[in-house]
Parts: sequence; C-alpha cells; structure tokens
Amino acid sequence: MKNKKLTEYQHLFGLIGFPISHSFSKKYFSNKFLNEGINNCLYELFPLRDISELPYLIEDFPNLTGLNVTLPYKELVIPYLDEIEESVKEIGAVNTIKIESGKLTGYNTDAFGFEESLFQFLNENQIKSINKALVLGTGGASKAVKYVLKKLEISYFMVSRDAEKGDFTYDDLTANLIAECQLIINTTPLGMAPKMDSFPKLKYDLLDSNHFLYDLVYNPEKTVFLAKGEKQGCSIINGLPMLYLQAEKAWELWNSIVDKK
Ligand SMILES: NC(=O)c1ccc[n+]([C@@H]2O[C@H](COP(=O)([O-])OP(=O)(O)OC[C@H]3O[C@@H](n4cnc5c(N)ncnc54)[C@H](OP(=O)(O)O)[C@@H]3O)[C@@H](O)[C@H]2O)c1
Repeated sequence: MKNKKLTEYQHLFGLIGFPISHSFSKKYFSNKFLNEGINNCLYELFPLRDISELPYLIEDFPNLTGLNVTLPYKELVIPYLDEIEESVKEIGAVNTIKIESGKLTGYNTDAFGFEESLFQFLNENQIKSINKALVLGTGGASKAVKYVLKKLEISYFMVSRDAEKGDFTYDDLTANLIAECQLIINTTPLGMAPKMDSFPKLKYDLLDSNHFLYDLVYNPEKTVFLAKGEKQGCSIINGLPMLYLQAEKAWELWNSIVDKK
C-alpha cells in the first residue's frame, strides 16, 4: 500500500504554494484519512514555482479532487478557476479549490474559520458590545477577517506599517482610539515561530479587561501579543480554532464529491 502511486488513489488532495516548508494541512488530512479509515484518499504537497503550472498539475493527476492554496497564490490562482464562490468575489482570495468533473471552483474557508472561531470566543452580547475593531496588518489573511467583520456589522480600522495601506499606522494609535476599539485582531506574522519574540507595536499598557485580543498566529499557542494582553486583563484567543475550522470546512466541500463517486 505504501508504494502506491499518486495516480492510483481514487481521490488526490494537496496544497499548492511556494515555497512549502511546513504544512499543517498535510499532517491534518493524512491523520484524518488514517484515523477514519479513508483509504481511497491521499494528501500531498505540490510546490509550484509559478501558478501557470496549475493546469499541468490538473492534467497530470486526473484524480485531483481538492486543493488548498497558500502563499503566494491565494489571489493569483483566481484567473485559473472556472467558478468562484460569492464570498471570494468580495474577499479576493482563495484558499480551497474543489475539482469536480474537471471544473475548478474556488472558496475561502478562512472566512468561515474566522467567523466560527469568533463565535466560540465571544458570546452574542459581547459581539454586540463591540464598538469597533482594529485589524493589524493588511495582507492576505486580513481580507477574510475584513469580510467577516463587515458581515457581522462590526466596523473596523486597518493598521499598517505603511500609511498608504491602512487607516492608521502603529504610531497613530492614540489612547482614545485604543479605548474605542475593544476587539484587536493580529493578522501579521509577528510572534510566529521561529521569531517568537516579535509582536505588533502597540501601547499594551492602554489595554484593559474590556479588550478582546484575537491572534491569527497559532504557533506558539500564546504569542507575546496575547501574553501582553492577558497581563492587562484582556480576553484572548489564538489562531488554532480557526485553523481547524477552515480545514474541516474544506473537507466538507470535498467530501460531497468523495461520497458521490
Ligand atoms: N489561524 C489560521 O487559520 C490562519 C489563516 C491564515 C493566516 N494565518 C496566519 O496569519 C498570519 C498572516 O498571514 P498572511 O497570509 O496574511 O501573511 P502576509 O500576507 O505575508 O502578511 C500579513 C501582513 O502583516 C504585515 N506584516 C508583515 N510583516 C510584518 C512585520 N515585520 N511587522 C509588522 N507587520 C508586518 C503586513 O501588513 P502591512 O504591510 O500593512 O503592515 C502584511 O501584509 C500568518 O502568521 C499566518 O500563519 C492564520
């Protein structure tokens, strides 16, 4: 069984990106297939040097049923898809592709993962009590976060190192603004292993027990950003619940095809 070729599995799944150094998804889906006795499926890594290689990958593996997409292709992959889910039109980024009878459909399950994890973190009254949110960083992940905040009617400000890209730079954040924004979401990679001692440049002494800190970073489980907030009495959540929820949502999308065949 171990030497089975990739094309011999009924359903092949994988991750496209470049470079792909470590992958949560490969570990997650390989364990899932093993633990749940799903023997007709395999999850592999497909580092593509250029997104223009995607059609050749699809051609080489007619059994490809689903793909996850990571940096730097979450936006660049869109022109290669036959259809995109409604939310992708607004978010502008794809992290999951379903391949059914040769047709490629793009989804963003990060948005689902963020929304569901926010509901696990905060109850309805807490969500209603939020006046405004601060979103730190303006990269790919911030787009799914913005989409969900808009959907939940939570108004937000974007914080960037670059005055052109956000509403504020880190140096612009006044005490009044920090008091007004009870929800602060880190979508930057600051604090992520191996550079675990880095953190967003905030005046942490202005935070108190009215603040909710959400860090999309999941490794380590408690970043310096979260630890500093916790010390001030803030409620905190890391990126692990979102990570699992986005993967489960991808499986839900793919599983509908696996069942049919
Ligand atoms: N938990 C989950 O399920 C989940 C899902 C997706 C992503 N993530 C995590 O979220 C993080 C961001 O992912 P991404 O794909 O959005 O990455 P990205 O596009 O590379 O970067 C995000 C943004 O962070 C800011 N930034 C980057 N380096 C910085 C630095 N040294 N100092 C201050 N700001 C910096 C930049 O915004 P400005 O230029 O505007 O400052 C950048 O656009 C990663 O750690 C990733 O692992 C987690």
